[in-house]
Amino acid sequence: MERTIGIGLLGAGTVGGTLVRRLVGESEAIASKTGLTFDVRKVGVRDLSRPREFDVTEGMLTTEPTEVVDDPSVDIVVEVMGGLEPAGDLILAALEAGKPVITANKELIAARGPELIAAAERKGVPLLFEAAVGGGIPIIRPLSETLAGEHLERILGIVNGTTNYILSQMTEAGVTYEEALAEAKALGYAEPDPTADVSGADAASKAAILASLAFGTWVGPSDVYTEGIEAVDAMDIAFGADFGYVVKLIGTAERIGSGVNVRVHPAMVPVEHPLAGIRGATNAVFIEGPSIDSLLFSGPGAGGEPTATAVLGDVIDAARETLAGAQVAPRIRFSAADVVPFEQVPTRWYVRLLVDDKPGVLAKIAGAFGEAGVSIRSVWQEGVDSEAALIIVTHHAAEASQRRAVEAFESIPDVIEVASVIRVLGDRV
Ligand SMILES: NC(=O)c1ccc[n+]([C@@H]2O[C@H](COP(=O)([O-])OP(=O)(O)OC[C@H]3O[C@@H](n4cnc5c(N)ncnc54)[C@H](OP(=O)(O)O)[C@@H]3O)[C@@H](O)[C@H]2O)c1
Repeated sequence: MERTIGIGLLGAGTVGGTLVRRLVGESEAIASKTGLTFDVRKVGVRDLSRPREFDVTEGMLTTEPTEVVDDPSVDIVVEVMGGLEPAGDLILAALEAGKPVITANKELIAARGPELIAAAERKGVPLLFEAAVGGGIPIIRPLSETLAGEHLERILGIVNGTTNYILSQMTEAGVTYEEALAEAKALGYAEPDPTADVSGADAASKAAILASLAFGTWVGPSDVYTEGIEAVDAMDIAFGADFGYVVKLIGTAERIGSGVNVRVHPAMVPVEHPLAGIRGATNAVFIEGPSIDSLLFSGPGAGGEPTATAVLGDVIDAARETLAGAQVAPRIRFSAADVVPFEQVPTRWYVRLLVDDKPGVLAKIAGAFGEAGVSIRSVWQEGVDSEAALIIVTHHAAEASQRRAVEAFESIPDVIEVASVIRVLGDRV
């Protein structure tokens, strides 16, 4: 039986505005492809006078978001307002009222996922969040459905377009971090306050969600070791290129023994790795498992149109469930995560030191690595007057051992400065 599905939106900005325009403007195409008809009935915003990219009908907009959730003609609630509150409690209220919820809010899912998913399960309604990671890239559904039977081992993601744009510009145009950030702001790739992006916090929320879905163990954002890109120096990008590496901000979710480790930090990615070629604001997720070997998903990680496509897919999915009238069970069941501290994880390091150019310095540095149980893979030295830049790339050793070696440099008088440390992406060990 055909029935029009009532849609309520919490937010009508970049993503929500595009979604409403497409639900209205492409309604015939959507109906002919899916057999579903939608009607946007209520839209919650902050400012009624702000211009919208869709035709606003009488009574459609409200500054009272609870009116969207409570409206009896709204069958499905779409949360695209962002932030933790009031979005979180509005979603909870919608689920408690038995309404399916679609959200693009990674910050909220990462922070309150288990509670919201439990509410959805109690009520037997879907809570879908395909747009929360990777914008227009389908990644949540492949992880929670298609790959549910695979014992996934590691996920590597470039999941923040702003930082990938900045690092790409530093690599390709040879500009400094500050210059690349200013350009990203001018082009709208970076927010006026870019802290959440450049600090790695946004990528950490997304890495936590990917890890939770991949391993079926819930990982919260506070479980994610996080380093941003603020300290990445153009000199290291240039040295990296000489050694065959491209610097990227990588979110890693990895099985370590019976536990998991999730982290976000800049990494030297070998040029031959598929993630090395992901340029500009593009996002990518590289998945490794014993049966699938590796899979690469890449595409636009943000922007109104791609993100609205992901939200629209979820709306269509939820509408099918609503019409079927079935009790919906969550796709993935989560157990508590055994989070392995980063210090125990095997890593490889690129270290750039400024040293006095004297005989015997290298032997002392090699000795400090040796004492910490870290073996050196390659060394490169360039003299500048009485000083020298020394670049060392190590083999895999526990993160704690790498740190111990570098800490020991402080007691070597010939070491002027540990200028930078960047981890090197390697194969799983
Ligand atoms: N933009 C992207 O490319 C992208 C990609 C993936 C995921 N996301 C996620 O999608 C969500 C929305 O992002 P966006 O870029 O579309 O944000 P946005 O452009 O800032 O839009 C936010 C919307 O929510 C409304 N709003 C905010 N707080 C409100 C409140 N307290 N009460 C009522 N309305 C409120 C705003 O109203 P006014 O219009 O009146 O100001 C605006 O319409 C976020 O969770 C974001 O992380 C965005």
